Amino acid sequence: MKFFADTAEIDAIRELSEAGLIDGVTTNPSLIHKSGRDFMEVTKEICGIVDGPVSAEVVALDHDGMMREAETLRKIADNVCIKVPLTIEGLKTCRKLTGDGTMVNVTLCFSANQALLAAKAGATFVSPFIGRHDDNGFDGMDLIRDMRLIYDNYAFETEILAASVRHPVHVLECARIGADVMTAPPKVITGLANHVLTDKGIEGFLADWAKTGQSIPTA
Ligand code: E4P
Repeated sequence: MKFFADTAEIDAIRELSEAGLIDGVTTNPSLIHKSGRDFMEVTKEICGIVDGPVSAEVVALDHDGMMREAETLRKIADNVCIKVPLTIEGLKTCRKLTGDGTMVNVTLCFSANQALLAAKAGATFVSPFIGRHDDNGFDGMDLIRDMRLIYDNYAFETEILAASVRHPVHVLECARIGADVMTAPPKVITGLANHVLTDKGIEGFLADWAKTGQSIPTA
């Protein structure tokens, strides 16, 4: 499963990228607002840090407007992935852009039927929002499971990009079901390394090491 960082914070992206933990980045208008940065400028900077897809979202709601915005966004770098909402206008835009060889992430997916439409429109990625699904009394994992089944039934190539991932259990379940990608805030990604027994183990080893009175020679 590929990991994308769901953020527009440059320092966090750089850190995760240098650690080899991420394969791409997703942003949205709320994350751009949170970063306090200029959209075009920060997107360009992110595209220079990671080799993989960097999702940048259009804000127009009509096909022509989305195409005009996508035209500008796709010039930023080769690894820009245009994010469009899961509406009929967004799907029309998706078909046109992917037909031209541009990566598209169809976002705000909340049902398996919506995911079916995104695949039929040739989306590179479709983003089911697990956390927001859970927040509203549905099981986000049921959605991922249905999508995996349907995409496999018809050998759709659209990648399932599990989004709105809030905690380690979301990540684990996505990996079990076989989501192609998951995008999560940096804190959730680094938090996957945490385990109380790892900390306890380190503590024990270091205590015994201190008793040996030795040190490892370094240059
Ligand atoms: C995905 O691309 C979105 O940016 C994101 O995952 C939304 O997550 P949220 O529900 O935590 O805002």
